[in-house]
Amino acid sequence: MSKTNLAVLGTQWGDEGKGKIVDMLTPRFSAVARYQGGHNAGHTVYVKGRKFVLHLVPSGILHPGVTCIIGNGVVVDPKALFTEIDELAGMGIAVDGRLLISEKAHAILPYHRELDMLSEARRGERKIGTTSRGIGPAYEDKIARRGIRIGDLLGDRATLEQAVRDNVDARNRVIEDSTLAWREVFDQLIADGERMRPWVGDVSLFLAQAIQAGKGVLFEGAQATLLDIDHGTYPFVTSSNASVGGVCTGLGVAPRAIEGVLGVAKAYTTRVGEGPLPTELSGPLAERLRESGNEYGASTGRPRRCGWFDAVVVRYSARINGLDALALTKLDVLDGLPEVRICTGYRTSGGDLSEFPASVRTLMDAEPIYETLPGWSTPTQGATRMEQLPPEARRYIERLEEVSGVPCVMVSTGSERDETIVRWDSAVAGRLLGDA
Ligand code: GDP
Ligand code: IMO
Ligand code: MG
Repeated sequence: MSKTNLAVLGTQWGDEGKGKIVDMLTPRFSAVARYQGGHNAGHTVYVKGRKFVLHLVPSGILHPGVTCIIGNGVVVDPKALFTEIDELAGMGIAVDGRLLISEKAHAILPYHRELDMLSEARRGERKIGTTSRGIGPAYEDKIARRGIRIGDLLGDRATLEQAVRDNVDARNRVIEDSTLAWREVFDQLIADGERMRPWVGDVSLFLAQAIQAGKGVLFEGAQATLLDIDHGTYPFVTSSNASVGGVCTGLGVAPRAIEGVLGVAKAYTTRVGEGPLPTELSGPLAERLRESGNEYGASTGRPRRCGWFDAVVVRYSARINGLDALALTKLDVLDGLPEVRICTGYRTSGGDLSEFPASVRTLMDAEPIYETLPGWSTPTQGATRMEQLPPEARRYIERLEEVSGVPCVMVSTGSERDETIVRWDSAVAGRLLGDA
């Protein structure tokens, strides 16, 4: 068991393999807590060939006895939650008794999805490329202080009625020719609340008690640092704080409770949706990465844009999150390439940059500066020890560590739980993960 409370989060633009890493580490912790995002996330976990895709439910759910928590920073679409829970039940995973949802989490209302799509349509060419799950509009209502929280579904009905009326009025003013009846929304929310009632509670208190008792907690991030509403490539971002700051605000835990931060990084880079991606490739090489890496969105099925590993991005993520270590994933996808590249800086009209620019405009015209390393033909797929990796793959990892400035404590070499190398010989592994 780990006694350290560990945040596990994305260092690039999402889909780094957080689900796999969280699932694999879960038995070391007493609880896994999601702190932001919603069902825009798609976290894929393979166990002996069976595929599980988690959206709202934390990726620790496959391990019995571990409490899975949805924090106040998450936006919850009740319908999506029930679908996911029913699917899990169909696969033999029961959530009852180990799911805890914050009463302060905000609900995604039935029409938030419609507002999301409308906003995208209005932007036209300048669209964000959202997952159209209603995430942005739900956070908008939260910040505008008219949002409806999960706890509100269980409380005084007159108060909920007023809130629903206000919200539906606001919506009807935005959507032309619309006459959505508040009653419909209200009745649905009451029914949803009843189903959720057994799971709803005080997340901050639960976590404080677990932490006080020395039971390790894993804080699970969705999306990633470059999609963070503040520190990502705004406006091409999601609407929550996916970086480490979101742990405190999204769960009600104190900063000192976060004793370690593990950044998940793919051995190359992908992005789904619009916005800058300096190392983006096109043509056969992009196609090769997309096919070998099966780079299609777990939530929307959209093809992911692919590019070389961008060390400037990961170094920036290390700064924003205070990364203690990296979990490098999908190394096996690079197997067989004659050469591999790492972006170590950007060339811009204003000169060369070694640090990620604060301005997205600068990033838009940044050309990557690459270092080229020899590839490897011996497969790394399924390796569980560093010694099994060809020297060129080890050199690649070593160079990534040097230019990103973060030691790599785990290397994932396949989608299955056990296709993972943990470098127990490094001091940081013991500190973050406990004993081997
Ligand atoms: P997440 O959103 O960060 O949890 O990542 P996704 O689940 O959206 O995308 C990662 C994809 O890569 C999933 O299909 C995983 O099963 C898969 N995956 C994770 N680690 C590895 C790995 O080391 N090698 C390979 N080939 N696939 C992996
Ligand atoms: P996981 O947790 C990758 C992207 C969308 C879009 C932008 C805003 O699986 O890594 P939103 O629907 O959130 O308003 O969309 O963010 N996006 C993700 N990209 N992985 C995700 O989650 C994502 N969640 C949102 O594609 O560009
Ligand atoms: Mg994903």
